[in-house]
This record gives sequence, C-alpha cells and structure tokens, in this order.
Amino acid sequence: MCGIVGYIGHRNCVPVILEGLRRLEYRGYDSAGIAVHSGGAIHVQKRAGKVADLAGSLDGGNGFLTATFGMGHTRWATHGEPNDVNAHPHGDASGRIALIHNGIIENYSSIRTKLLREGHVFRGGTDTEVLAHLIGAVYEKVGSLHEAVRLALSEVDGTYGIVVMSADDPSHMVAARRGSPLLIGVGQGEHFVASDASAVIEHTRHVAYLSDGEIAVITADGFRTSTIDDVGTEKVVEELNLELAQIERGGYDHFMLKEIHEQPSTIRDAMRGRLLVDEGNVKLGGLQHVMGRLLSARRVIVTACGTSWHAGLVAEYMLEQIARIPTEVEYASEFRYRNPLVNIDDVVFLISQSGETADTLAALREAKSKGATVLGVVNVVGSTIAREAHGGVYIHAGPEIGVASTKAFTSQLTVMALITLMLARARGMSREDGQILAREIASLPEKVQQILDGADEVKRIAHEFAGARNFLYLGRGSNFPVALEGALKLKEISYIHAEGYPAAEMKHGPIALIDERMPVVVVVPKDAIYEKVLSNIQEVRARKGRIIAIANEDDDEITGLAEFVIRVPRTYGFFGPILNIIPLQLLSYYIAVACGTNVDQPRNLAKSVTVE
Ligand code: F6R
Repeated sequence: MCGIVGYIGHRNCVPVILEGLRRLEYRGYDSAGIAVHSGGAIHVQKRAGKVADLAGSLDGGNGFLTATFGMGHTRWATHGEPNDVNAHPHGDASGRIALIHNGIIENYSSIRTKLLREGHVFRGGTDTEVLAHLIGAVYEKVGSLHEAVRLALSEVDGTYGIVVMSADDPSHMVAARRGSPLLIGVGQGEHFVASDASAVIEHTRHVAYLSDGEIAVITADGFRTSTIDDVGTEKVVEELNLELAQIERGGYDHFMLKEIHEQPSTIRDAMRGRLLVDEGNVKLGGLQHVMGRLLSARRVIVTACGTSWHAGLVAEYMLEQIARIPTEVEYASEFRYRNPLVNIDDVVFLISQSGETADTLAALREAKSKGATVLGVVNVVGSTIAREAHGGVYIHAGPEIGVASTKAFTSQLTVMALITLMLARARGMSREDGQILAREIASLPEKVQQILDGADEVKRIAHEFAGARNFLYLGRGSNFPVALEGALKLKEISYIHAEGYPAAEMKHGPIALIDERMPVVVVVPKDAIYEKVLSNIQEVRARKGRIIAIANEDDDEITGLAEFVIRVPRTYGFFGPILNIIPLQLLSYYIAVACGTNVDQPRNLAKSVTVE
C-alpha cells in the first residue's frame, strides 16, 4: 500500500527520498512522486509507474540536486485511477502547500462540494487533493501550518498518515496520523518521517512512532508532538531491531524465494527461548498476565485476513483438538459488520504479519469495545495491533518484504502451536504428552530444511504446469487451510486461477471442472483420514485430472496414484501444515517465475492493506 518518506536536514534530500521509496516498493504501488523545497518554492515531480521512472525523470533543475528538505510518496490507487495527475504530492489552490497521504478520506465528497462552492478547482479525482485544498484554505486564514493541519483534520472522517510542507517556511514539516502508520527517524541535524522503518534504517536506528490522533512538527534538529486538540504529548525514541541485510535480497532472485528459504531459521526464532522441551511446556511472556482470562475463556475467536486467516483456520484445529478449547475463526473484514456476539468471557486472537491491516485492527477495536480480551499474534514490533492488544506474542519472522506471505505464515502457525501446547498443559495435559509435542515442534526447522533441499524437484514440476490456466488444491482436516493457502499463493503471483477445496467437497461441484488439462494438487499425509483422501484422488484419476501429491516420505502407495509426488517428512498431525505448505510456496514461486510475472511486486496487490 502507499508509502511515505520525508527528509529535513543538511544533505540533498532527493537520493535519501528516492532510496527510501525504493525500500517501500514491496508494499505495492502504481505511481510515485516527490516534492522538494528550493528557492522559496515547492517543486513537484510525479508520475504513474515505477520509482525508477520517477528518478529518471528528474533533471538537475528546480533544486532537485541541492534541496535539503522534501518528501516522496508511492501511491496505491483507491480514489481516482493511477495516472500522473492523481499521483502524490498534491498541492493546494495557491501552490504553496504540498501534501502526501496514505489512507482514505471518507467524507472527501462533501468537503470537495464545499470547496467547489468557494471557487476551488480540482485537477484530479483523489481524496488527497481535496485534503490539500482544505489545509491550504485554512492556512490562508490562520497562517500557521501546524494549526492549519490540526483544524483541517478536525473536519475529516477516515484514515490518514500525512506529511505536509509549506513553501513559506522551510524550517519544518508537519505529519499526522490516524489509522495509517508513521514514524519519525531521529538523526544528527536531520530528521526523517516514513510509513515504514525500512525507508529510514540506512540512516538512523532511532525512531518514534506516532500514535493515532497525533500531529508532529518536525525540524532538522528535533520534533514535537501534540494531539489534534493541541495537547502536547511525550514520545519515547526507540531503537530499531532491524538490520539492513534483512531488507535486502541477499543473493536470491526475489525476496519471496529468500523468505521461503529463511523458514528453518524463522521457525526456530519463533520458538527460541519459549519452547521448554524437557518440561514439555511453553513460556510466553506476553500472555502471562492474561493466563487467567485465557484459561477461563468460554471460547476463543481467531480473526485475521488472507494468509493470516488461513493460519487462524489451522489454529482452530490445534486449539480445539489439542487444548480442547472451543474456537471460531472469522474473516476480520466481515467481523464488525455482523454485530458479532462477543462478550467479556471471550478471548480474541488477531493474527497479522504487518500489525497494520485495517480490517484486522477494526476487528480488534470491535472486540475490545465489547469487553473481550484481545491478543495479537503479530510480526511487526510496535505495530498498531501489537500496541492496542491487551497482550500477545510476536512471531519474530523478521521483515517480510515479498508481497506473497510465506515465512510469516509458518511462524504464525509455530506460535499458535506454542500457545496451544501452553494452554493444553495448563488444562491438564501430562508432562509426558507435552514432551512428545514439544519435541515435534522443536524438530520442525530441520524438517523444513529437508523439504527445501528438494526445491529443484518442485521447480521441475512447476515447469511442467506453467501453461495451465486453472488449478485445484485439495486437502482435508487441518490441511484444508493448506489447500486454500497454496491456491492463494498461486493466484497472487502467477495470476493463474486456483481454488482450494476440502477434498471430499470436490464431488459436490468442482469435480465438474476436472479433465485431462486440470492440475490437482492434493495434500495427503499419512494421517487418520489418509485412506479417505486416497479415495478422493481416485475420483480425480477417473476423470483424468493430473495429480500432484504432497505426501510423506514413507508413503509407497501414492507413487502409483499420482503423476508427481513431492515428499515431506512426517510430523504430528496438526503441525503438518507447517511442513506441507513449503512445497506449495515453492511450486507457486517457480510457476510464477516460469510465467514471467514480477514475483515481488505482483499486480494490484499491496503488502500491508491499511484501507478497508
Ligand atoms: C497473502 C497475503 C495477504 C495477507 C493479508 C493480511 O500472501 O500476504 O493475504 O495475509 O493481507 O495481512 P496481515 O497478515 O499483515 O494482516
């Protein structure tokens, strides 16, 4: 989704801003722009397309070689098509104010009508241009940029992370946030503002996160913050726990492939210091203070979006089957619109890689307002969901740059397995049984590595199917969500239509699709329903579907039934999804590469979906 980078200091701001925007490319965007302050004026350059196109279009004129104050933006279109005019920054009527904006101004239409009546002329179709004009109109009256932003925002409904600069005063920029993340990077005689730490990590490790409803005035030498009602606030400057190497490709062709291969270590990091194998138990600091509420919970609700929702579906099996806690899983995007029956005895887990997904955040707030205990299972430290939850567990997967989520999924599952084991033990599971599960969890990184060592075989199979236009993914029990996730991965990055189905449901409809051109990926571990899945495979074979089986190493029977077999080690049933998804991630990656799509920046997608 949109990205923001601002700089004020002593060096030429243009390379700093362009490099920051490049670091944010993974979030997804369709146009980019930059504004610099030079010679008492603001100069703007913006265009549809890539940051590289924007960089190539900048000549040395208009202060682009010398300015020390400026801001840049990557836009992911919501209102108005992705073209040069709608790209940010946007100016006000006077051309003296420039604004960049992440989020959506919901009442932009009524503000626009009011401004049109006052004689404003709009060039494009964005809500952001309307906000720029509104701030400009107030600025005309009050003469202070901070005050103009503050008063204008009090008229606005919706979400925003904004940065505003004025041609009249190069000493400061004003940033404000509601629902869309922003942080201030603190340097020596220079300050940064960004929507994501990866945009500033090259320059500073010291950051302050803006809270919802806060406005900041940022100068080269410092910053001050206040609420929208103009009450001063105190900010803690935190040290980023992030290395530059973590946000670079490190020799891999794509971030997605790098992140797939990181999984043995990211899964290990998720359990590090938490899994107590000898005790057959788990220690999770972020849940200690809510243990009483977790143990007395009437039920658990897990809510999330996309891949994280799939992790929730697997978690439902773990929590119900191992810890015996009634669990429901909800799409976060639907949660609050059906006036959910949530009460103070419920515990709601929010699973989110970014910790910023607008739908998931809204579900958190809805559940919290109804008195439930809300707990985050989040990757990005300090993100909004992490901060607003009553407690939770970080998955510690490190920055996930690839738009298609991979390592976050397996780390989410690992953390949900840890939570499950901890609750199961607290509810009476014996130490011996706990040890068996703990040993299984501890062995997962090695088993994932074993699967990754066979990546070349998956690549070979991928080449065989790169021309297919449809795929079916089948699985049963806790491997049904694996089928959903495998299908999601394929469609996201290769644009091939794919559907995930519970294997036994196939005969109730999708079986009509099967013929000799239909690849059918079946997850078929040797578990209690193995024979049933074999019957489903026979149904596909009878209709000449092309079967790719994800099966255990010691399964000989499958060899004669499937055209291709990808082997995975055995593990305890409900932890199987952590292994079974790995070949499906590789399969979609290699198919997408064979199809020639841009794996790290697939069309239309954004990494962090901060709008509803
Ligand atoms: C799929 C993917 C998305 C996200 C979803 C939720 O590969 O990345 O489906 O899983 O947008 O995002 P988070 O986990 O950041 O809340």
